[in-house]
Amino acid sequence: MNELDSLVASARELFAQAATPVELENAKAQFLGKAGKMTELMKGMAQLSVEEKKTRGAAINVTKQAIEAALTERRNALAEAQLQVQLQAERLDVTLPGRQRGQGGLHPVSLTLERIEGIFASMGFEVAEGPEIESDWFNFTALNTPEDHPARSMHDTFYVEGGTPQAPNLLRTHTSPMQVRHAVQHVKRYRNQLDAGQGMPEIRVIAPGRTYRVDSDATHSPMFHQCEGLWIGENVSFKDLKVVFTDFCKTFFESDDLVLRFRPSFFPFTEPSAEVDIQFQSGPLAGKWLEVAGSGQVHPNVVRNMGLDPERFIGFAFGMGPDRLTMLRYGVNDLRLFFDGDIRFLSQFNK
Ligand code: PHE
Repeated sequence: MNELDSLVASARELFAQAATPVELENAKAQFLGKAGKMTELMKGMAQLSVEEKKTRGAAINVTKQAIEAALTERRNALAEAQLQVQLQAERLDVTLPGRQRGQGGLHPVSLTLERIEGIFASMGFEVAEGPEIESDWFNFTALNTPEDHPARSMHDTFYVEGGTPQAPNLLRTHTSPMQVRHAVQHVKRYRNQLDAGQGMPEIRVIAPGRTYRVDSDATHSPMFHQCEGLWIGENVSFKDLKVVFTDFCKTFFESDDLVLRFRPSFFPFTEPSAEVDIQFQSGPLAGKWLEVAGSGQVHPNVVRNMGLDPERFIGFAFGMGPDRLTMLRYGVNDLRLFFDGDIRFLSQFNK
């Protein structure tokens, strides 16, 4: 091997020994730097003749190119190795299953409310919502319950501090205040038509929501749900209420195998009033009368408070308990389970 070839060989060897880009640059300097081997070789050319310079120069050039090629090769190899190290360090296992998020679901009572709304909507009822903090007027007085009426003590009411009977001052004890609230809005919309003697579209509405009473045991919770229903027109009768409510129960419980009973009762805002009981003819609850709603013909005083003439407009109302409907539908025996927030209980309703 001549002197130039061995120079290339030693460059290759040194480059190969360089483990990092910095080491490689140091090794490069020994050959291609200002004070490097190549510069030395060029200096040696000075004493040569023109002919010798030609051949020697060409050979040195070949040597230089070979060293540069070795350098580039090693640079690429080091860069590639570094890339591999980085890829390895940042490696993502795309086959690893993602972190699971527990799937949420609707509360059983919410499921019931959705069912109730769907069924009544299909029968042409609107769905209305109203405030949970009510005024004395809407919760009692407008519903034909005067100040000293004993019916007020039927409800153990939560009063709100600082309220007055005119402003919101209590937690509504039922959804019935929505009867007057909704009817007043409806009547306002058709006031001109009514005054011109043209009548108005019937009021058909349900109003689901939270209600409150001072009460707590296996079948009563201080917060519970009700769903009000109101149907007012010029040609509505108890028969319509009965048909609608029977249809509702059959659809809700997905059974034709049940009968309804309207049991005389009392509410200040309806006259006559009835408790609605249902009885399944088959299944685990067969034979028992189960109370599901209060109902009745809207009292003339209430119709008047809606802004309507009770001689012309007649209405029917009902108020049912979605919590109780949920208990019956799913066979739950303790109301408090719905409000304890125990996920083991609640998750059973979303399968
Ligand atoms: N508001 C009554 C209650 O809470 C139920 C009811 C509603 C009765 C509508 C008649 C008409 O018990």
